[in-house]
Amino acid sequence: MTELTDTTGPAKAADPVAFPQDRTCPYHPPTGYGPLREGRPVSRVTLYDGREVWAVSGHSAARALLADPRLSSDRRRPEFPIPTARFAGVRDRRVALLGLDDPEHQIQRRMMIPSFTVKRATALRPAIQAIVDDLLDAMIARGPGAELVSAFALPVPSMVICDLLGVPYADHEFFEEQSRKLLRGPTADDSQNARKALEDYLGGLIDAKAGHPEPGKGVLDDLVHKQLSEGALDRAEVVSLAVILLVAGHETTANMISLGTYTLLQHPDRLAELRADPTLLPSAVEELMRMLSIADGLLRVAVEDIEVEGVTIRAGEGVMFSTSVINRDDSVYVDPDALDFGRSARHHVAFGFGIHQCLGQNLARAELEIALGTLLARLPGLRLAVPAEEIPFKPGDTIQGMLELPVTW
Ligand code: HEM
Repeated sequence: MTELTDTTGPAKAADPVAFPQDRTCPYHPPTGYGPLREGRPVSRVTLYDGREVWAVSGHSAARALLADPRLSSDRRRPEFPIPTARFAGVRDRRVALLGLDDPEHQIQRRMMIPSFTVKRATALRPAIQAIVDDLLDAMIARGPGAELVSAFALPVPSMVICDLLGVPYADHEFFEEQSRKLLRGPTADDSQNARKALEDYLGGLIDAKAGHPEPGKGVLDDLVHKQLSEGALDRAEVVSLAVILLVAGHETTANMISLGTYTLLQHPDRLAELRADPTLLPSAVEELMRMLSIADGLLRVAVEDIEVEGVTIRAGEGVMFSTSVINRDDSVYVDPDALDFGRSARHHVAFGFGIHQCLGQNLARAELEIALGTLLARLPGLRLAVPAEEIPFKPGDTIQGMLELPVTW
């Protein structure tokens, strides 16, 4: 595994741990989060700016708190915790869905739910399968050998979300690059400029859709021709929704495909088990979601005092949920560091929990099952093209995944 230096030395039991830290192995939580495991269910971490916030690492405390309306997701609140310097500029911005509390949040969520049901995701399966097949045909024709992130892991969810939203895939290089900068900077200016560029681009697209007398078939077309034209949402709200749907809709799933493939290749017994019995695929996807916990560090701020398992979280204090540590709570998962397709991983919090639980989870599951299942079926000899420790992965302060994944077959 690529060696990354943890940003803290070994912590004493009472020292707040620094958060976030880089993973040492891309599919395990950073070794520096050891004290969070020992401190279950709730301990403390220090953020980049020196601020201490509560760190929730116990499974039942996490589910109780993520469903607690006394914790706010509103990034406009001055006490809202900031995980890295480059997100400091988000404070004064309205973030659709994820940055709203109920009842405002519920209004937007209700509008979006029909587009993201299990039924809708099931109906999209043939289209997803066709995208996956075409990409693999092209990759195999160029092979043997490919860089899997650019050839497969990124284009699959990018094409799927474009189809679903009604965004032209021809613009993918632009929005993929801006999404990368939005999430990873490296500077605060890069992140801010990227958000602005995405807002301008999607704003233009929304105006163009509004100018068309006949609505197109995408989710953004529905928003423009229903909610916007009826006055239920204003233009800024539609743009903000479009940004979160486009960014969350491709970056996260792309990381799960690349890191999921890497993890399977590093667990040959599990890989053989899955190849021998493809009906294991749904449980394998769930178990990979649990183990990889790629969105680590969900943030909230308390708006009232909250008692939880003997601890009082005071109004105004920040709260951080480490999904990677919560999903390895050994009171819920036996041998939690092992990849085990036989366990029931379904109650993991890798998609969050409560009112903000991932809107796109049904879509993501369908994409992951089809992408991973077809990749393994088409390429029985799939393997890493270079030693595992030479393959770069993403730093701890963003969604986890592989930066590159050279494979051959
Ligand atoms: C495997 C891939 C994915 C992972 C790991 C993931 C993870 C998450 C997590 C952890 C949250 C909750 C954040 C919080 O509570 O602070 C979330 C929310 C959200 N996700 Fe996903 N997500 C994935 C795929 C998708 C896809 C494909 C979409 C499609 C549009 C999507 C759209 C959203 C939206 C809109 C929210 C905010 C929901 C709300 O606040 O009501 N995600 N996601």
